[in-house]
Amino acid sequence: MVTILRGNIIHTPAFGKLETLAGGYLVLEDGVIAGVYPRLPEGYAACPVEDWGEKLILPSFADLHLHAPQYPMLGMGMDLPLLDWLNAYTFKTEERFADTDYARRVYRRLAEELVAGGTTRVAMFSSRHTDATLILMEELERAGVTGYVGKVNMDRNSGVAQETTEESIAETLRWLESCHFDHIKPMLTPRFTPSCTDELMAQLGRLAAERDLPVQSHLSENTGEIAWVKELHPDCGQYWETYRKYGLWKPGTLMAHCVYSDERERAAMAEAGVWAVHCAASNVNICSGTAPVRRMLEEGVPVALGSDIAGGDQLAMSQVVVTSIRASKVKAMETGEPFLTVPEAFYLGTAAGSRYFGGGEGFAPGHALHAIVVDEGVFPESTRELTLAERFERAVYLMDEYSIAAVYSEGRRVK
Ligand code: GUN
Ligand code: FE
Repeated sequence: MVTILRGNIIHTPAFGKLETLAGGYLVLEDGVIAGVYPRLPEGYAACPVEDWGEKLILPSFADLHLHAPQYPMLGMGMDLPLLDWLNAYTFKTEERFADTDYARRVYRRLAEELVAGGTTRVAMFSSRHTDATLILMEELERAGVTGYVGKVNMDRNSGVAQETTEESIAETLRWLESCHFDHIKPMLTPRFTPSCTDELMAQLGRLAAERDLPVQSHLSENTGEIAWVKELHPDCGQYWETYRKYGLWKPGTLMAHCVYSDERERAAMAEAGVWAVHCAASNVNICSGTAPVRRMLEEGVPVALGSDIAGGDQLAMSQVVVTSIRASKVKAMETGEPFLTVPEAFYLGTAAGSRYFGGGEGFAPGHALHAIVVDEGVFPESTRELTLAERFERAVYLMDEYSIAAVYSEGRRVK
């Protein structure tokens, strides 16, 4: 089946590259992009056109790090550093998800809000609860979100949210057996080194290898955390080696934060194909720092963006993109390193995550469409006619769920 969208098409087909096409045509065959054209090719002349008029058609967002069971504490508890924040607020909030009715309500709303804000791809942490994790996957699937979800593993230093090692593995196996969703797949999720015993890490590493499962965790977020990891693993020179030791450091492993990853840690990421997920809002909120994103990219570390709710206070990835720019400017003022431009940060929030999941960068032919349509009608009236590049910049800064008129995920319209 052929679907044709017409409108102002704007995308970033490479890092730092912005392409605009006024009144262009985006042609889909069975939801897969056949091409982007300034004029409709004759072969499609008889096909109906979804005409978005003056609206902007942009790629949708990918959120490669967020904690679903922290959604209820969005905007709360920002007055403590990481380790105290986990104990005082986070573990208690996540424990509420032992209640599956509560999980259903919260996760349905979360999935809807993700789509409304234009996020169609995720790599997400659930809580330790198998049943709530399956509910989360079901609700994401229903809403039209695609990607990975992980039941969290945590068998030490986790207060009220702690599992035994046996429970953690048995529940992980039960969860994996029940995962049969089309667009939402399982991802192994040791919370972070301090909350997983060596035995648990070793068993998860074996499982990752045996079943070829992807892995996500946290790395080098906060100085107190890094010092603690050093105490727990005196045999490891650096934090990342605790993951490598157990087979969890492999191509496609997602490591959130990497605020304090130095040259050696970054080289290990580039060499292994481990991704850094930059979570600028969270890193400022709980006073962790700002990751050296520019250095990472220059040194060949793949980087994508994450909202990291509820360390991050914004679920909307458009705002996460803006916060990444802002954080990079603070860093630029301190270090002289160039800040992230709007097209660069937008690329990291859209194309980079798409590439992580095997999709295209921008509207590349041969890949299922992930897109949003932005209606600028609710923005302030400007003093003059704006170029498409200017309209793009304004849309990145101002868009919200009310100005996102439509969302396409995996070739289907989901809003
Ligand atoms: N490190 C371990 N758990 C967490 C978490 O829930 N949020 C953040 N930001 N860092 C963590
Ligand atoms: Fe996190």
